[in-house]
Amino acid sequence: MEPTKTTKKATTLKEIQTPIAEELQLFEVKFKKSMQSNVALLDKITSYIVKRKGKQVRPMFVFLCAQLCGKVSDSSYNAASLVEILHTATLVHDDVVDESYERRGFFSINALWKNKIAVLIGDFLFSQGMLLALDNNEHQLLQIVSRATKEMAEGELLQIEKARRLDIKEDVYYEIIRKKTASLIASACAAGAASSTSDAEEVEKIRQFGEYIGIAFQIRDDLLDFGDEDIGKPRGIDIKEKKMTLPLIYALSQTSKMEKRKVIKIIKNNSKDPAKVAEVIQFVRSSGGLKYAMDAMYDYRQKAFDILHSFPLCPARESLEQLVIFVTERKK
Ligand code: IPE
Ligand code: IPE
Ligand code: MG
Ligand code: MG
Repeated sequence: MEPTKTTKKATTLKEIQTPIAEELQLFEVKFKKSMQSNVALLDKITSYIVKRKGKQVRPMFVFLCAQLCGKVSDSSYNAASLVEILHTATLVHDDVVDESYERRGFFSINALWKNKIAVLIGDFLFSQGMLLALDNNEHQLLQIVSRATKEMAEGELLQIEKARRLDIKEDVYYEIIRKKTASLIASACAAGAASSTSDAEEVEKIRQFGEYIGIAFQIRDDLLDFGDEDIGKPRGIDIKEKKMTLPLIYALSQTSKMEKRKVIKIIKNNSKDPAKVAEVIQFVRSSGGLKYAMDAMYDYRQKAFDILHSFPLCPARESLEQLVIFVTERKK
């Protein structure tokens, strides 16, 4: 097997985008259009969302996977828009669920317009996404992403259920993140592939590639929650919301019964107290929880590379490799 270039430094997003630069420009126009509405309040809010766009890694996965398996087609554009709309909708809902007031360095929708409106905006975006696919007769695309949207809701609910009991083990953590995050990234990759090849085996291989990336992506996200740099959204909020993520699960598994009881008690009773949250973060840091999660993230990244390297070398493969490095080294 050829060596993986895991030591190679992460390239900038702009460089990674080179093989799909034109596609992304056209996507931007289509994406904006697909968010428009005649209802003034809706239009005001979706404009706010479009102005503060995120990294847009999912559309990048769509186009690069399409290119890896063949040629970018109209279907690739539909897939990119649908996946990014659904992603946006889930973020709007997620911030309601997490009571989070910052997103992409600005106020979240629920912070500015309150929960009622945020819930409806999320619903509107979901419906727009489904219509976009139906209007273009994209049945296969709908099939690929509907599984993801179902799993995302299941993942978030499983997380809430477990947050109540604070007894989660690694296998449940992985089930949660596979559902709530990896399923959509897997869909983005699969839909991209399906838009340029009819080889079902290849599409499945790419879907699996996306799932591994998605798991690594969420581990990175959970690690960022323990950091002290600006990430454009609140930090320490996972503990505040009683989310047991991998660094914490590992730290608790390594400590004495007494210490474990103490930490769990803080999470149960004092998770809204920033000083107490800082105490838990310090405990996780000093127990090697961050290093452990980082290693797990690199294991999943390697699994993704192994699949990627079964494809012939081409600009799309090189960019995909760099994009995987980017999402696992990202600071936001
Ligand atoms: C955030 O996703 C939600 C998670 C699955 C962790 P992104 O980090 O891709 O969000 P944006 O779109 O770039 O803001
Ligand atoms: C990912 O979990 C949420 C979704 C899949 C919508 P988080 O709750 O950790 O995501 P952030 O940190 O708010 O972006
Ligand atoms: Mg959240
Ligand atoms: Mg998070």
